[in-house]
Amino acid sequence: MRSLGVAPGLAVVDLCCGDGYFTAPLARIVEGKVYGVDIDPVMLERTRAEVERAGATVLDLICADARDLPELLPGKVDYVLIANTFHGVPDKTAMARAVAAALNPSGQFAIVNWHPLPRERTVVLGKPRGPKTEMRMSPDDVRSIVEPVDFTLERVVELPPFHYASVFRVVEAQRDPSFLD
Ligand SMILES: C[S@@+](CC[C@H](N)C(=O)[O-])C[C@H]1O[C@@H](n2cnc3c(N)ncnc32)[C@H](O)[C@@H]1O
Repeated sequence: MRSLGVAPGLAVVDLCCGDGYFTAPLARIVEGKVYGVDIDPVMLERTRAEVERAGATVLDLICADARDLPELLPGKVDYVLIANTFHGVPDKTAMARAVAAALNPSGQFAIVNWHPLPRERTVVLGKPRGPKTEMRMSPDDVRSIVEPVDFTLERVVELPPFHYASVFRVVEAQRDPSFLD
């Protein structure tokens, strides 16, 4: 999480947080300034238990549709993480727009994905894991969707053995000098 730019002081969202695998370490780094969002209440209960097990706290665990993100939060945040989920989002551009609307100026958006390897090659604990081969996205696929939504790619971080993270930053609106005349 630290290698993805998560740092103390930032307010973070773990979008589609699942069982809290990332929420708990995020909560420890940002000292509780994290929201978990998931549509499945059972997953949120697991997140609650995982955060507690890690001796951490969160701002809130929100049971809702990720596509409504800006309306779910009391204010804007500095960082949104979506892990192991973006490949399956039906309207990825709309999702990226919702994230942009929830972020502070120059906020960051990190997408953790499985590398586009054949599923039979991503073996964990003796079994092929992760999304179907044809659903997997390359860093270039992700970039081509997210950058047009007012983001710029800052870096791609390798998360061996099978994942990477694309870290984007909101592009601040260009000020038109003629507007100041
Ligand atoms: C593959 S899991 C990833 C969980 C976690 N991010 C991780 O990497 O361990 C995908 C999660 O997305 C949640 N999800 C699916 N559609 C959603 C939606 N429209 N809004 C919010 N959460 C959603 C599911 O309930 C599930 O917990």
